[in-house]
Amino acid sequence: MDLTAWRYEESIEAFRKETIGCADDAAWEQLRNAYLSKKNGLVGKLLADLRGVPREHKPRLGKEVNLFKKEVEAFFKNRANAKPKGNDKTLDLSLPGVLPAIGSLHPLTQTLNDMLHFFTTMGYDIADGPEIETNFYNFEALNTPEDHPAREDQDTFYIDNDHMLRTQTSGCQVRYMQAHQPPFRMVAPGKVFRRDDDPTHSPMFHQLEGLVVGENIHYGHLKGTLEAFAKYIFGEQTVIRLRPSYFPFTEPSAEVDVSCAFCEDGCRICKQSGWIEILGSGMVDPNVFEAVGYDPDKVTGFAFGIGIERVAMLRMNIPDIRYLYTNDRRFLDRFKVG
Ligand code: DAH
Repeated sequence: MDLTAWRYEESIEAFRKETIGCADDAAWEQLRNAYLSKKNGLVGKLLADLRGVPREHKPRLGKEVNLFKKEVEAFFKNRANAKPKGNDKTLDLSLPGVLPAIGSLHPLTQTLNDMLHFFTTMGYDIADGPEIETNFYNFEALNTPEDHPAREDQDTFYIDNDHMLRTQTSGCQVRYMQAHQPPFRMVAPGKVFRRDDDPTHSPMFHQLEGLVVGENIHYGHLKGTLEAFAKYIFGEQTVIRLRPSYFPFTEPSAEVDVSCAFCEDGCRICKQSGWIEILGSGMVDPNVFEAVGYDPDKVTGFAFGIGIERVAMLRMNIPDIRYLYTNDRRFLDRFKVG
């Protein structure tokens, strides 16, 4: 080829146009070969042809051919450097990172911790018991006769004739009394199970059992304790109401309501009554003391069982108990602490 008619500007312009048309790796490789392959590449040919160029054209053409070579080589080198390694996705370092999801204590755990804080600072011991209980601990020792409605199948998940998922934490009272001598104060938190399922009832829920036994423990102690508890948990303005009730293991028994925190004179949450039930309580029935070998003429006591979900739902304004168990992060993140 006669190089005297060759023009650097035209050639480099033609090369640039060709690079624009390259759509994939194969096309790039083809272009590279067309220009830089040792055998047939255009650059190599130009260099070879340079040798036969008349002397007077050599300085200019030598400079321009070398410039062309450098420019084409640099283009492919830059492209190789810019290409991501490993996979073909481009790494964009300017994108914001993905923060790791950090959990927090579950609303029920937060509530229980606050409840336990109240009782432990008042000198209560923390106890527990098994979730699978026997007839004796769940019913018999708690003065619940064979024909008591709470024993019927629709309330209790039986495992066999003598074992069941405990329906209440009250069995922990019996276990604690068997292992300790009065005077004492104890609370026992835990899961309980019943055949129940609606917006305010779940087949599994949590209770905090409480028991205080000693000489001359009387109803005033029960009332004062539960009043202080309600004010600590729901705020100083809270008042409580004791409603006569029945539990087999206490006599007299009372259900305790707290004044509704959501309204002045009745709303949907308190069912227009201004009061919300949170626990059952009473003076320990002498039959229970006898079942564990205590002398009911020497000691008296009071007991209570608080629904932990109830307390959490009221404090945190949670309308449906089932939100507490679905592990939906959008819900749980509302109650993040720390
Ligand atoms: N165990 C009762 C229930 O599950 C609650 C309860 C009532 C516990 C009175 C007590 C008590 O310790 O004295 O409904």
